[in-house]
Amino acid sequence: MSVLIWNPEWETGIPLIDQQHRQLLGQFEMLLVAIREGNPGDQIPPLLAFLSDYVESHFSTEEKHMQATRYPGFIDHKVIHDDMRVQVAKLVDDYQKDPSIMTVEVFDFLTDWLVGHINEHDRSMARHIVWFEAREPRISS
Ligand SMILES: [Fe+2]
Ligand SMILES: [Fe+2]
Repeated sequence: MSVLIWNPEWETGIPLIDQQHRQLLGQFEMLLVAIREGNPGDQIPPLLAFLSDYVESHFSTEEKHMQATRYPGFIDHKVIHDDMRVQVAKLVDDYQKDPSIMTVEVFDFLTDWLVGHINEHDRSMARHIVWFEAREPRISS
């Protein structure tokens, strides 16, 4: 991938989640620029730290929405999030040990994962949340 342009097809229809997805992709874009600049020693650590915090905060937001709307796919979705939490933590750890591991290929893997997850799992989740909220008072926006 390597070029991050928001695709309207990735919209879930849930404003807070869509806003977080855009911010995540924006953060990925900044990381990609830092990697491509080839001298990212000062730039990558704070970007990675922010990214891992933001991933956690975003996954927590989705998990709260899934639980509040009794989403039947919650457990499966959370397992996928938990796997990504482990992978992001490992990436941060590996980078601290050896900055050369941060390559465009690693970055592409992460980006493809994120976009694939949004497109498949997050949109399924969002269809349920929209359906649920049409029947019950809104839990949040
Ligand atoms: Fe998401
Ligand atoms: Fe998700």
